[in-house]
Amino acid sequence: MECWRLDDGRQTLALAMRAGGLPEVIYWGPPLPDSEDLAVIARAGEIDMTGGMLDRTPPLSICPEAAQSFPGQPGLVLHAEDGAPLLPAFRFEAAETGDGTLALVSRDTALGLTLTARFAIDRGTHILTATTALAADAPVRLHWLAAPVLPAPQLSDEMIDLAGRWCGEFQPIRTPWSPGIRLRENRTGRTGHEHFPGLIVPGRGATHTGGEAWGFHYGWSGGHRMIAEELPDGRRQIQWGHAPGTERTPATRFETAPLYAVYSAKGLNGCAVSFQRHLRDRIVTWARPDAPRPVHYNCWEAVYFDHDLEELKDIATRAARLGAERFVLDDGWFGTRDDYTTSLGDWTIDPRKYPDGLTPLIDHIHGLGMTFGLWFEPEMINTDSAAFRAHPDWRLGAADQIPGRQQYVLDMSRDDVREELFGQISALLGRYAIDYIKWDHNRVLPYPDAAQTRGTHALLDRLRAAFPTVEIESCASGGGRIDFGILGRTQRLWLSDSNDALERLRMQADAAMFLPAAVTGSHVGPRTCHTSGRILDISFRAWVAAMRHMGFEMDPRELTDHEADVLARVTAWWTDNRGWLMTADIHRLDSPDPAIIAEQHISRDGGQFVVFAGRAASSAQIAPRPLRLTGLDPEASYEITLLNRDDVTGLSRGQPALKAGAEIVSSRYLMSHGISLPWAFPGSIWVVNGRR
Ligand code: DGJ
Repeated sequence: MECWRLDDGRQTLALAMRAGGLPEVIYWGPPLPDSEDLAVIARAGEIDMTGGMLDRTPPLSICPEAAQSFPGQPGLVLHAEDGAPLLPAFRFEAAETGDGTLALVSRDTALGLTLTARFAIDRGTHILTATTALAADAPVRLHWLAAPVLPAPQLSDEMIDLAGRWCGEFQPIRTPWSPGIRLRENRTGRTGHEHFPGLIVPGRGATHTGGEAWGFHYGWSGGHRMIAEELPDGRRQIQWGHAPGTERTPATRFETAPLYAVYSAKGLNGCAVSFQRHLRDRIVTWARPDAPRPVHYNCWEAVYFDHDLEELKDIATRAARLGAERFVLDDGWFGTRDDYTTSLGDWTIDPRKYPDGLTPLIDHIHGLGMTFGLWFEPEMINTDSAAFRAHPDWRLGAADQIPGRQQYVLDMSRDDVREELFGQISALLGRYAIDYIKWDHNRVLPYPDAAQTRGTHALLDRLRAAFPTVEIESCASGGGRIDFGILGRTQRLWLSDSNDALERLRMQADAAMFLPAAVTGSHVGPRTCHTSGRILDISFRAWVAAMRHMGFEMDPRELTDHEADVLARVTAWWTDNRGWLMTADIHRLDSPDPAIIAEQHISRDGGQFVVFAGRAASSAQIAPRPLRLTGLDPEASYEITLLNRDDVTGLSRGQPALKAGAEIVSSRYLMSHGISLPWAFPGSIWVVNGRR
């Protein structure tokens, strides 16, 4: 028997190769002692057999094999080029170990197939990264290839994955474990609002702040499949891969996207903080790593397609006065784009709206001290466009397919399509001082296709190489393309088209299971929210945006003096504090009151934190319940201050100390009793700063 282990001080992943076949994960959890004999563990963990079972238990290997009578979903489904099903039976060949890395190579000589599983453990972020690659001597047709298959814990009653929709992204779904499969599959061809590729398996009794949890994320932008399966014998497996059938042509090389996984003994937050740090510090390639995240202004909900130079200048002037540092010109500046029906594909400036090009607007914006960003939707085309008239064959899919938002998708696997897009976009980036692209993707594909995703990634990589200081935002009708694959090529994401602070509060908190503040765009929307009709107070709207990478998206001409004053003050607080906020860890708090959604952002040095306690609804009980904090130095005391004391209403008549001024208390008190906040209206938020 051969065995291997990867350790990072927080977790051990141990694997064994028992009888010459594919290796198996024999342990994944809290660190095992260095002295542990893995061969003993491998034998100790073998399950017993009884009636109704085979004479040997089919292994739950890193790629369970149908040819081994595996009683669940196999890790590989493959056909010969002529369509005949293949049933590989791999034999282990070799292992390559490095510092925190492991590659395991297995081969089916008869079929001419080589399977390589790679693992890497990051001792800083505690994220395990795993991929599977398949090489074939002759072309084969791949239906399904799982990234290295990991076992799921047995002392776990449920799993948490995420559903969503336009304006309602990141909705956690809790599903009890039961025999059979929980399958999430996205066939839209983009990461999708509907099935974010993430999963948390909490140990029994785990909460945000305590207990065990195992987290997973599949870093792919083209649609994925997740299988969480309990076998008849009770074992549990987790599989991730590209959506089946999306490798549409026979080939000799296939590879999964990276699967990111983590074990936490500190509740769901332990997984969340690891994913946040890994994304921010390892995956994102920052355009200007040392520059602070600028406050955005985006004009979409102010003007939509109705671009008027003088109005935009006026809006920019007002936005700058409020604290905006980057002005993003959204949809409507190109072709003859007055509505959704036209011009996608023609990335040339509309001379009716901008007779002198973008220079007059950009000069004005620069004069205000702001930088300039521009919206594109490169992968799309309208039939009413010069591009489509010249190249109708560039459309992906059939002519009679169902259009989406009255537009079609370009075939990004074509070199000529990518060449044309690179030419058009780089011409604008070369001509104008553009430091930011909002890269949109507003419809699903006519069918899912991995080559499409690879094409988009290649175009992004080429643009990034040519214009390394230009930042890119991933947007797809809001949060339709959020994953670690796209975020390796972009630096910001548009979480949702909902600027409704009440909905954002919930969404942001659930998305923080994977996403750090630095990449998560959040804008102060109009007084009456355009996507919900809700009217929300400016303080609530401003503070909810200040919880992430802050921006504005309302028409600043609608603001009263009071609203402008509140917004400017909150923005100034954000810019004063972004130095530590944008690298802080976001911990979700275990709120004793379901009406309160609360987060604690802790600075990397632990010296300070800010608690955002949002009131999403009225409470059942009369008075606010104390809110327990987390993650503090247990020996320290903290000075805590209610930052927005001005928001106290006349209906709050008592004197909790925080209302009067700062208080200094021990972290033990804060973490076991909690902070007592003033009574507040629903649709409001308390912001509490703490300093060690
Ligand atoms: C969808 C995006 O999510 C919006 O923010 C905006 O950019 C529109 N597209 C523009 O068409």
